[in-house]
Amino acid sequence: MGRFSEAEINWAPFRPCAPGEKPPYPRSLQTPEGLGDRLRFVAFAEKQAMEAFSLAANVFSDSTEHQRSAWLRLADEEAKHLSWLLKRMEELGIDPGERSQSLALWNSFDRCEGAHQFAVFMSNAEERGRIAGEQFFETLKSTDPVTAEIFRKIAEEEVEHIRIAESALRP
Ligand SMILES: [Fe+2]
Ligand SMILES: [Fe+2]
Repeated sequence: MGRFSEAEINWAPFRPCAPGEKPPYPRSLQTPEGLGDRLRFVAFAEKQAMEAFSLAANVFSDSTEHQRSAWLRLADEEAKHLSWLLKRMEELGIDPGERSQSLALWNSFDRCEGAHQFAVFMSNAEERGRIAGEQFFETLKSTDPVTAEIFRKIAEEEVEHIRIAESALRP
């Protein structure tokens, strides 16, 4: 279908990989650079989710009013998570564009053939995001409680996102 990968998206302040380019391997989490790599990765995932939810409302002509409003609401929610992470990165002096980011998640949205498949795909993506947030909280809570708390709060809110995303499974 190619409808997501062909869309013109402004990825700033991130720097996506060029076609065929491999993203650099994340550095050790015991270093400030490694923490920066994780924050950049998660923030870019929020950005991709935000753009996907806002585009989906236009991309899937078979979507219902109920699905479109659920996705637009989730787009706003992911924009909020993105802003928390970018603010924390700024506090820590981490440049979002320092390293190139994989567009694998973004390109995978092309596999959704219609509104229902996208709804299923995103419910699962929300659950993976929730688990990742919890894991980052556990990993960071003793070394960087401020960043850890952001991940905890994101994981907590993903529970509500999953509920909204699942409501879009029913047209
Ligand atoms: Fe999120
Ligand atoms: Fe979410």
